[in-house]
Amino acid sequence: MMRLTGKVALLTGGGGGIGGATAVRFAEEGARVVVGDINRELGAEVAAKAKEAAGNNGGDAIFVELDVTEHDSVRNVVDTAVDRYGGLHVLYNLAGGSTPEDGSVTEVSDEEFWRCIKLDLFGTFLCCKYGIPAIEKSGGGSVINMSSNVALMAVLGRDSYTAAKGGVAALTRSLAVQYAPGRVRVNAIAPSITLSERVKKFLEISPDLQSLADQHLLGPGQPIHVANMAVYLASDESEITTGQVISVDSGVTIY
Ligand SMILES: NC(=O)c1ccc[n+]([C@@H]2O[C@H](COP(=O)([O-])OP(=O)(O)OC[C@H]3O[C@@H](n4cnc5c(N)ncnc54)[C@H](O)[C@@H]3O)[C@@H](O)[C@H]2O)c1
Repeated sequence: MMRLTGKVALLTGGGGGIGGATAVRFAEEGARVVVGDINRELGAEVAAKAKEAAGNNGGDAIFVELDVTEHDSVRNVVDTAVDRYGGLHVLYNLAGGSTPEDGSVTEVSDEEFWRCIKLDLFGTFLCCKYGIPAIEKSGGGSVINMSSNVALMAVLGRDSYTAAKGGVAALTRSLAVQYAPGRVRVNAIAPSITLSERVKKFLEISPDLQSLADQHLLGPGQPIHVANMAVYLASDESEITTGQVISVDSGVTIY
């Protein structure tokens, strides 16, 4: 049996770099994957790749357009997952990301602060609001939130993103306690620099980010490294792992 046979997984931001690698890994392990993304083209492309990766192993993938900051849209993607595949076992909140417009608290604009908080923190909050009850009804499962190394170490000049991902880490712990009786595990992954297309472009224009990348003990991460951690957290192998913020960071937070 594969590691995710029988699981239904919803990936928000599933059309992105880490989301795309994860959708394919989940499908290879037999999951039925709902790729939710605001970008139709990217999301549909990932769903097609994941479906192909599943072959005839019982896995599958579909794309559903999603804006994680809108109640109706989040309700719709959860309902679609349940209607199509009969339940929901894994919610992976990937939609988010920092931008070059972020900065230190004395410099960054209010617009960038609220954009980041709305997408990374409120989006995660909203998807948990609608996703957790569906997981409970399905007999329990796993929520995987996306935090970041910025929640665990000081990274200068990214105060909006730091506030948002710190909030995600804290929320992960309280949700883990709250929903354990319904057999819902809640963990977060805290990657450091991971070479998605978005971050590769960011590295080219940011000497600070490049110098942080140079401190990664085993080199910067690839999306597949984060995807492999998510397979563990989505599977029954992580049956009693909950409330944790797990680094996939090439050792940078301890260096
Ligand atoms: N790549 C890294 O170095 C790194 C490090 C730490 C944490 N992370 C986190 O991992 C996650 C994925 O990062 P990535 O590098 O793959 O980014 P990415 O930009 O490749 O993927 C993000 C995806 O989210 C989608 N999205 C944006 N707004 C949305 C919305 N409102 N609703 C639904 N989808 C939306 C985008 O269309 C995109 O496909 C993010 O939360 C990011 O903060 C990334």
